[in-house]
Amino acid sequence: MVSYSYSSSNLLSSFVLCVVLVANAFQCFTSDATSTLMVDGSPNSGRPIPNTFLGAFFEEINHAGAGGLWAELVSNRGFEGGRGSGSPSSIYPWRVIGNESLISVSTDQTSCFERNKIALRMEVLCNGPKSCPPAGVGVSNPGYWGMNIEKGKKYKLVMYVKVKASGPVDLQVSLTGSVHRVNMVSIISFSAMTDNNFSKWTKVEGILESKATNHNSNLQITTTTRAILWLDQVSLMPLDTYKGHGFRMDLFKMVADLKPKFLRFPGGCFVEGYYLKNGFQWKNTIGAWEQRPGHYGDVWKYWTDDGFGFFEMLQLAEDLGALPIWVFNNGMSVGGEEVNMSALSPFIQDALDGIEFAKGSPSSKWGSVRASMRHPEPFDFRFVAVGNENCFPHHKVHYQEKYFKFYDAIKRAYPEIRIISNCDGSKTPLNHPADLFDFHIYPNNSMDMFSKYSVFDKTSRLGPKVFVSEYAVVKDDARNGTLLAALAEAAFLIGLERISDIVHMVCYAPLFINKNGRYSWIPDAIAFNSHESYGTPSYWVQQLFSESSGAIYLNSTLQTSSNSIVASAIGYRSSQDSKIYLRVKVVNFGSEIEKLRITINGLSSNVQQSRSTKTVLTSSNKMDENSFSQPNKVVPRKSALENASNNMVVSISPYSVTSFDLLV
Ligand code: AHR
Repeated sequence: MVSYSYSSSNLLSSFVLCVVLVANAFQCFTSDATSTLMVDGSPNSGRPIPNTFLGAFFEEINHAGAGGLWAELVSNRGFEGGRGSGSPSSIYPWRVIGNESLISVSTDQTSCFERNKIALRMEVLCNGPKSCPPAGVGVSNPGYWGMNIEKGKKYKLVMYVKVKASGPVDLQVSLTGSVHRVNMVSIISFSAMTDNNFSKWTKVEGILESKATNHNSNLQITTTTRAILWLDQVSLMPLDTYKGHGFRMDLFKMVADLKPKFLRFPGGCFVEGYYLKNGFQWKNTIGAWEQRPGHYGDVWKYWTDDGFGFFEMLQLAEDLGALPIWVFNNGMSVGGEEVNMSALSPFIQDALDGIEFAKGSPSSKWGSVRASMRHPEPFDFRFVAVGNENCFPHHKVHYQEKYFKFYDAIKRAYPEIRIISNCDGSKTPLNHPADLFDFHIYPNNSMDMFSKYSVFDKTSRLGPKVFVSEYAVVKDDARNGTLLAALAEAAFLIGLERISDIVHMVCYAPLFINKNGRYSWIPDAIAFNSHESYGTPSYWVQQLFSESSGAIYLNSTLQTSSNSIVASAIGYRSSQDSKIYLRVKVVNFGSEIEKLRITINGLSSNVQQSRSTKTVLTSSNKMDENSFSQPNKVVPRKSALENASNNMVVSISPYSVTSFDLLV
């Protein structure tokens, strides 16, 4: 095992060079003390890191799904939005085109969809080109702060319409740039809609093909005919989503590039709700999208149409090659609501039904619903987490009582399912059975995170394994995602690799942020708007650990007088060229250049210079962040490692994490 041997350092006495760059920027001192990392690379040394080591945590927070990874462009497509069901509902962000003398817009409860009865009612008062504006009157939807419409791409429109009119009605669907009101696409015209053929709810569909690019477009539905028109479940989806599964391409790729081995979902607090009624109720999120009621996520304070529901999250995990980890609602909410023990059985049944939906046979009750969604094969479903963050001291006893009931029922029906408790077993063993326990860590201070690498050293090896299911530096040291925070997290991950005999899973939180959101959690791993995205430094750190899952953790010893560096070594087979590499990762959390001798013993062949590389994540200022204007300010830079050998001296830049990938 690695042993970190620090001596009390006399850092200030060993500088050979001092240049102050700018206020707050690095001071480029070089320490003349050379640290040594001795790696045992012999074939039988080391121990496997679990295959599930690095994963991702998708929570519906910051518009991660609705207005993010889920590519649906219409926001509040069923007009049920707002704070819950009932009429009047909020039609926000829909807007009315035309003044009150031309059109009257309201909602009523006449929809054909039983679980979401609200429909939009438009009473058109003008008639024909003389009294209506040339472009007509109607409604428009800006999506989630503007729809990204791109030249040459196709978009599928689906909506439900009902008409009451004395003659034929024309209805036009178009996409416009918000600035010049220029039509972006071939307009779909539904003409000759009459009382006869549209007096009942009718599904209409069409493809809009874009003639231009505008990242801030609106969908418009307009007419110039006097009539009463009802609209419901209006959807516009780009055709180019990942495998046609509805995932926005660029965001999907960014997650896939992390090579996550598991996907925890759908929260987080999102699962619980501030009030239980606003928690994630998976049964309301499956089946035909038109029939999903949607819900107001009252913790992160936005409406979701639930197009990205339980099925889609399972599909996402499968598409990523990741094992799904479903966090289910255990009858406890963020605001402290909880069901009585006597009323827990519906929640237990709900959890069992969810498991059956995910992995049951297509002939089972819930497995057949999954099969009807074109996924007859069971998902590779192995883990559930009983709630999220409920085992706080004031709740602990209640949580444990409930946990037992869930545990018992699930293990009886599905002995193979691995169950995650959210009580902290890091210091004292849990008093209840579990396969893993959740551990969340959000220090305000990066030094705190940097020095947390030994947090599980004393955790019992006899009990459940550790799932670090949420970690991040937050607040001042992190802001929107700084280099400094990311380096502290890299040191933390190096520490977790070292004790991956007990830490089996780790994922950062939160994964996504739509930067237009008004009520948001920062920092996050991936930031985006309607058409752009970038990784924060914390995202790039995760990429540097993406080969760790299933790799061999090699025994190594770091001898150093610096208290700013940590290092580890793994052996792995590259997914790119299938060759065996040895990866040494080093974090320098100080302002000096550190010299490090890396010696590798026990290899059957020498390190090869060709294909050996060095990848460095650093920047000129430790507080640097990425942004839309500078998305690549803090990203890993890869170069050939010219002096690659079994015994080499390397320089480690101040405030950096470096990955040396040595072909062996
Ligand atoms: O990651 C953001 C939130 O932090 C999660 O919803 C919750 O589990 C934690 O408190």
